[in-house]
Amino acid sequence: MVKKNMDKTVVFALAKGRLAEKSAEILCRCGIDCANILEPTRKLILTDKSGAYEFIFVKPSDVPVYVERGVADVGVVGKDTLLESGADVYELADLKFGACKLALAGYAGFDVTEARNGLKVATKYGNFARSYFESRGLNADIIPLHGSIELGPIVGLSDIILDIVESGKTLRENGLSVLEEICDCSARLIVNKVSLKTKSAVLIPLVTKIKEAVSE
Ligand code: PRP
Repeated sequence: MVKKNMDKTVVFALAKGRLAEKSAEILCRCGIDCANILEPTRKLILTDKSGAYEFIFVKPSDVPVYVERGVADVGVVGKDTLLESGADVYELADLKFGACKLALAGYAGFDVTEARNGLKVATKYGNFARSYFESRGLNADIIPLHGSIELGPIVGLSDIILDIVESGKTLRENGLSVLEEICDCSARLIVNKVSLKTKSAVLIPLVTKIKEAVSE
């Protein structure tokens, strides 16, 4: 059966992993009975008890895709992932959890602006990195990786990395340092642009409640 997000149910796209638990906590504080989303299951779609909300579980990097395309009305996603996606969605609230920084890192003392023959940058954030270095007028060779980014400078694959830093432990344990901080990142509430109009009666109060729950 083909499923279309047309009815009054509000569909959430939630990331599996790091952000799932905190997302559920905030939604529970907003009166949404969604404790079931934390139970171990392989189900990809769950609903709350009232049936007013549906939750679809996707890879973190796919959350902006589902929301931009309108399959989900609302999503919770890290700012880093949102920047990388370039998705055309409304970012309506900083949910304050999942705090980290996007940063350039490498061996201490490496001067990013001194790399005359082009700067080799390993990263999971290729789209963001390209526009970031272009905006700084720096010629960067972006090397796409999907994990263990810190290996880049250590094995000589890259001069530096562009990555998220949370506790700093991975950098420290591998003898690397933050060279430059780019921006603060945390979980964000994103909303589909059409849904905000067509489901405004439900979504606007919901966004208000979520913002209140964050600031409590
Ligand atoms: C992320 C990121 C860093 C690390 C930073 O990797 O890419 O490697 O976390 O966290 P820290 O500052 O607390 O050490 P992730 O754990 O997602 O694993 P990955 O290497 O598979 O991408």
